[in-house]
Amino acid sequence: MLDKASLKILFESLERLDAGFAALPVFDARVPGANRVAETLAETAERLQDNYPYFHPLYAGQMLKPPHPVARLAYALAQWINPNNHALDGGRATSAMEKEAVAGIAEMFGWREHLGHLCGGGTMANLEALWVAGQLAPGKKILASEQAHYTHGRISSVLQLPFAAVPCDAHGRMDLAKLREHVAGGEVGTVVATMGTTATGSVDSLAGILELREKYGFRIHADAAYGGYFGLVGNLGDETRRGFDLLHRVDSIVIDPHKHGLQPYGCGCVVFRDPGVGRLYKHDSPYTYFSSSELHLGEISLECSRPGAAAAALWATQKLLPLAKGGEFARGLEDCRKAAVDFHQRLEKDARFLTAFPPELDIVVFAPCAGSVGEASERSRKIFEAAARRNLHLAVAELPTSFFEANLREMKKDRVSLTCLRSVLMKPEHREWVGRIWEILGEATEEVVGQ
Ligand SMILES: Cc1ncc(COP(=O)(O)O)c(C=O)c1O
Repeated sequence: MLDKASLKILFESLERLDAGFAALPVFDARVPGANRVAETLAETAERLQDNYPYFHPLYAGQMLKPPHPVARLAYALAQWINPNNHALDGGRATSAMEKEAVAGIAEMFGWREHLGHLCGGGTMANLEALWVAGQLAPGKKILASEQAHYTHGRISSVLQLPFAAVPCDAHGRMDLAKLREHVAGGEVGTVVATMGTTATGSVDSLAGILELREKYGFRIHADAAYGGYFGLVGNLGDETRRGFDLLHRVDSIVIDPHKHGLQPYGCGCVVFRDPGVGRLYKHDSPYTYFSSSELHLGEISLECSRPGAAAAALWATQKLLPLAKGGEFARGLEDCRKAAVDFHQRLEKDARFLTAFPPELDIVVFAPCAGSVGEASERSRKIFEAAARRNLHLAVAELPTSFFEANLREMKKDRVSLTCLRSVLMKPEHREWVGRIWEILGEATEEVVGQ
């Protein structure tokens, strides 16, 4: 985990940064408690040991992984300035970096013109997208699938917009026939298309949603918080590929650089296809926007103070690893996909396990076979614990039994939902580690099933 060479790079970069301020008179910085910093940090390190090893390939549970070293270093470097990207006064360089980095993301989606910015994360970014949607269609309903992130319902309630969850098909995607019924009923302002659900990585059929938009007219917001970067990869299934190829036709997109974009938390991003929505943010802040007539990011963002360090980290990462199809960054994601496909195939071929549908991105859900869904659910929890004792960290998810329907064989359907195991294989290293993960999973399963 510890990469000492990177600390040397940080030190050298800090000296370079410092040189830019060499003309200032020297002063004695007041740092209360300076002589106790080392001991306090040592204690902090002790406390931080109480964590799952997110950086290690044997952590194959939730959507968690370490940032790229360049992001971590750029963030740390920027901390010596601590810029605030609310206004140009607070962060001149990092405001420019944010605009460039966000333009890079918009371009990845095929938008040359756009309006967008960074924010705390996917929830805040979706809040802004739905706030804009609500301003444009006051009082109209927001629709998202039953597998969409739980915050869409809550955000709608914060915005006092009516919300309805559309059922999913057996692949965890929004059921288009059900969506049609909803939109035909009228009063729908916005449909949220999830481009990679949190639980299973399922991608809603954008082609179908766009077709319905032609007939019924509504706004489309794409929640690509998790899946957004997968448009760059060359190894998606045909249907999934088609969805990402159509993404430029939606009205707004949310993507989380702090998920697959190699960034520290919190770095979310919202982009709008029509820059004209900037007018909705119009507000006065008489004590803020005085240093420049150029756009201050606070003028197009709901949040006020935001870390310029997040922009520096993202900018540096995109500089090192451009968001290009076939590039190094894309190849890392392709390895995650390969890991997921490999893992799913092993599970499918093994009579001890029950799979759902093949992974669309890099998330695999599965369960141990048993006499009934209830028994399989119990076993899932036990395998989760037995694997953790062997340092393999998976996640547990409660999913509709219908997702597993095609593979249930003689299992008794005594429950409508199945507690299953879930693996987010979001580190490129997972590609080489699937074999080891498979071995440990086998041992943990034997321990539980052999009881
Ligand atoms: C599809 C999707 N949308 C939104 C979110 C919320 O993002 P955040 O946790 O960054 O607020 C998540 C988080 O997992 C997600 O997977």
